[in-house]
Amino acid sequence: MLTNDSSAATRPDPASDARSLRRRLRSESRPSHEELDGRFAGMTREASPVAYARFLQANEACHRMLEPVLAASPLMEAFPDLKLHRRAPSLSADLALMGLEALDAPGFSRSRLTVAQAVGVVYVLEGSRLGAGYIRAEIRRHGTTKAWEAASFAYLEGPDEPHALRNFLAAASAVLLDEADVDAAIAAADETFRYFLRVEALTRSGALN
Ligand code: HEM
Repeated sequence: MLTNDSSAATRPDPASDARSLRRRLRSESRPSHEELDGRFAGMTREASPVAYARFLQANEACHRMLEPVLAASPLMEAFPDLKLHRRAPSLSADLALMGLEALDAPGFSRSRLTVAQAVGVVYVLEGSRLGAGYIRAEIRRHGTTKAWEAASFAYLEGPDEPHALRNFLAAASAVLLDEADVDAAIAAADETFRYFLRVEALTRSGALN
């Protein structure tokens, strides 16, 4: 007998919703992410860690400015189990150990975030740990010259939770049910990448280059 299990066809699938949220976040912010990656091209292969110093400065400033904006957002009410990681302290420790100045960075374009916008900002900050893992592996492969001996790696070596982003996006996809909310999260993610780009530009006008 042929059956037509229409309930299975329409049953919500949280894992697939999370994957599609991730797919949209990743693909629609890809141009900004690629532009940012490009600003640090060759960083781990350079004979001196100057580009790495800029990477730390830009990350320290962005995390220092964005983490309080997230903490003040309604994120924790929407996701009571979420652990928001603060990366600014380890970045600040790296700067201090390497004798680098903290940047005087502009504020983020929004001081108040909706839940949807906060999801976009968390995506960029937590997602950047994936990039950090890649950079850490590359430095281990290339960055062993004498010139890198005084570099500090508290941020890159900081604790990672491999499934944190995936779990967060699974929870987020159950909260962002309207298409408009998903669009707002993506717009905020792209705005966050563009904020990193603006801050990165400041590292080029400093004494490092
Ligand atoms: C400087 C600030 C950076 C931010 C905010 C950032 C952000 C992100 C985000 C959000 C993702 C997750 C994409 C996804 O899978 O959905 C990601 C992944 C990744 N990023 Fe970046 N990134 C940064 C710098 C870099 C740099 C400089 C590189 C390379 C030199 C890089 C290489 C990567 C790689 C290889 C992945 C994918 C890792 C994987 O799938 O396992 N990122 N980054």
